[in-house]
Amino acid sequence: MVVVSDAGQISAAGAWNQSSVPEGAAVHDHRGQCILPGFVDTHAHYPQVNALHTWGGGSLLRWLDHCIFPAEAELADPSIARMAAKDVIDAMLACGTTTALIYGSQFSAAQDALFEELHAQGMRAVVGRTAMVNGPKDLTAPIDETLRLCREEIDRWHPRAEALDDALVHVALVPRFALSFDGETLGAIGELWADVRNRGVRFTTHLSENPEEVEAVRRAFGVSHYLDAYDACGLLGPRSVLAHAVHCDDHEIARLAETDSAVSHCPTSQLFLGNGTMPIAKMMAAGIRLGLGTDVAAGDTFSLPEVANAAYKVHVGASARQALHPAELLHLATIGGAGLLGLSHRTGNLDPGKDADLVIIDPERHPPLAGRLSGLAAGSPVDRLFALLMGMGRETIVRTLVRGRVVWQRRDR
Ligand code: GUN
Ligand code: ZN
Repeated sequence: MVVVSDAGQISAAGAWNQSSVPEGAAVHDHRGQCILPGFVDTHAHYPQVNALHTWGGGSLLRWLDHCIFPAEAELADPSIARMAAKDVIDAMLACGTTTALIYGSQFSAAQDALFEELHAQGMRAVVGRTAMVNGPKDLTAPIDETLRLCREEIDRWHPRAEALDDALVHVALVPRFALSFDGETLGAIGELWADVRNRGVRFTTHLSENPEEVEAVRRAFGVSHYLDAYDACGLLGPRSVLAHAVHCDDHEIARLAETDSAVSHCPTSQLFLGNGTMPIAKMMAAGIRLGLGTDVAAGDTFSLPEVANAAYKVHVGASARQALHPAELLHLATIGGAGLLGLSHRTGNLDPGKDADLVIIDPERHPPLAGRLSGLAAGSPVDRLFALLMGMGRETIVRTLVRGRVVWQRRDR
């Protein structure tokens, strides 16, 4: 049972108990179903919603050039962008994702469409235009214009100080990755972040996803470690989220920990592009804050439980075997991710006082899961949680709520 106030906050959570239903409360009876905190996707690309399952032949850089940059360029058409904004939000909510850190479009009209749709649909998100100075002509802008466009987006869409804590939608600074810049232009992004971070603007980018990319960054920036390119520009810190971090060595792991920078772990993406396995055991031992990212379209699913399922399998099979505990998987998919975004006081679990960001799961929609859960009914909740996370699929999700409001509902219900 989750008791939700009129303002959409959790006032109590626990086992169903008729006697503690507040007087006059409307009761939505979900007995036989499961209520989990809404999932948090710490790495998603809005302009790639139409580029799922594009063949890159095992090369990140070739896949970007041949599949992704052309797909992102299509959002220059405002009608395509509007449809993509609706589709990406719908896809995330349908998977029970209530909060996402989203890489946006390079086109301002497309960004306006995304922000408008997020507000209209009531999803919680941190979003920034995907900034590029180097790359294909239609996606790049010179650094002065890039800085101006980022500032304009912050002024237009980032909440003012007095509204910051309550706002569902926030803005981030999102340079695509080091190779979309050089030392000087990335330095200018660092200066911009130094100027806006006290307004609550987050920072995110890609880090060390692929060996060919790592080598190219070392050459282009004259650094011995990929992370140094960001570190030199002041881009690390508690509100900085680095996606992937697959090929980080001990020096980089220590520096991520020292600066309290966070890592978005994207195992379905690493499987799809053949990029290797993140050293999760070392990162956990170093105390680095971790969340999960779908990374669509390199990741081939919008479902955080499917990403958690992949995380379990890749790490249990890696050379430094790490069997993630079911509670760790749930943590990564919910409150861990919320922590990366500085939102763990508002969302990520069912503690009283938090916003009621919830996903409701009906195991009967996938009979093998229902059977497995009823077989485990008298057993350990850890076993039930593992069965649920590994086996829920997408069809079992029937309702998604943000701040107590139903933002997505299965239509055939
Ligand atoms: N590195 C730079 N851009 C991208 C992107 O769009 N997807 C992934 N997976 N890696 C990137
Ligand atoms: Zn990505």
